[in-house]
Amino acid sequence: MAQLFPKKIDLMIRGVGLAVAIGAGVTAGGMLLLHHPKKIEPGYQPTQPIAYSHKLHAGNLGMDCMYCHNTVDKSSYAAIPSSQTCMNCHSKVKAQSVVLEPLRKSYEANEPVPWVKIHRLPDYAFFNHSAHVNSGVSCVTCHGRVDQMIEVKQVQPLTMAWCLECHRNPAAHIRPAEFVTKLDWKPERDPAEIGREIIVKKKINPPVNCSGCHR
Ligand code: HEC
Ligand code: HEC
Ligand code: HEC
Ligand code: HEC
Ligand code: HEC
Repeated sequence: MAQLFPKKIDLMIRGVGLAVAIGAGVTAGGMLLLHHPKKIEPGYQPTQPIAYSHKLHAGNLGMDCMYCHNTVDKSSYAAIPSSQTCMNCHSKVKAQSVVLEPLRKSYEANEPVPWVKIHRLPDYAFFNHSAHVNSGVSCVTCHGRVDQMIEVKQVQPLTMAWCLECHRNPAAHIRPAEFVTKLDWKPERDPAEIGREIIVKKKINPPVNCSGCHR
């Protein structure tokens, strides 16, 4: 983290174009902080409208993350599943469960379950799931062992310094894309070596310039 500042200044003096982008970033940043007085931090774990457990579904039952979050490899946003997805099973499994009453209501009324969003970047920072997932950055790197969480909580700071730490040196965090949702995947050799090979093959080059994330 000590090197963040000199690097930042180095980038700042590189061009007027960047200076404009920085100005926009600072202004937007200042404005947004007013609208989001509550800064979300690691450990944030709101109570959800239904006691849905990732540990049960993704862990014990072994469901793949993409069965429910089926846009992570296609779009910037990781879709939260509709009630229909849950009802694929729960129209038969635990069909009378009291705990699932809000789910049945949501399904019948054709209205989404009001899940509380946990991870949230300020609007002036751009993020794209598909760019990361298709490069081979696993959910576990940014969200932790969700398959062991009864209730999801944020485990990483999601700060700019944290993003940049990986963008400057991503090799150790890159795996073959087919293991992205296998949170307990163990590499057979040095992960950075595997990552470096994939970086060359896929020409991976995460942005470190301001306009990469502040558009
Ligand atoms: C059966 C469907 C289902 C599966 C499978 C599933 N999830 Fe989820 N996920 C949900 C639902 C519903 C929510 C919203 C409620 C909550 O936060 O618990 C959610 C929320 C999340 C969140 C928090 C989103 C936010 O609000 O910031 C993350 C991160 C997440 N899931 C990651 C994963 C990962 C990683 C896997 C695979 C190990 C996975 N999920 C598997 C249904 C699922
Ligand atoms: C692939 C099938 C499947 C899907 C899809 C699925 N579940 Fe489940 N769910 C199960 C099974 C199996 C159990 C455990 C039943 C048991 O304990 O006998 C369960 C249990 C539950 C329970 C505990 C119910 C109780 O009475 O103890 C809740 C709550 C729940 N699921 C919510 C959801 C939600 C919300 C979704 C959608 C985001 C969802 N499930 C999607 C199979 C599924
Ligand atoms: C490089 C880090 C990173 C990776 C890898 C990653 N996520 Fe996320 N995820 C984030 C960030 C950052 C947010 C908050 C985005 C925002 O608010 O704009 C987020 C938000 C979410 C959300 C809430 C909806 C949304 O898009 O804001 C879900 C669900 C989620 N992630 C699931 C997953 C799953 C499942 C995987 C693996 C297939 C995954 N994520 C991989 C960083 C990551
Ligand atoms: C663990 C490593 C890692 C972390 C953490 C990470 N990234 Fe990335 N990021 C990557 C990789 C790898 C790519 C893909 C670069 C490529 O395809 O050339 C990428 C690409 C991007 C891109 C370019 C996407 C596009 O569509 O052009 C943006 C923007 C981005 N990341 C923003 C962020 C932000 C914001 C955060 C922090 C909230 C973050 N990243 C955290 C590794 C990471
Ligand atoms: C890899 C993505 C990424 C890059 C590259 C990046 N930023 Fe950020 N930046 C973020 C994220 C995410 C946030 C919001 C989280 C935070 O405040 O740390 C942020 C926040 C900020 C803020 C608001 C800080 C605050 O304390 O509220 C400013 C100002 C900013 N960035 C300027 C810059 C400048 C100048 C550069 C170029 C030197 C840059 N950013 C490059 C991701 C990035």
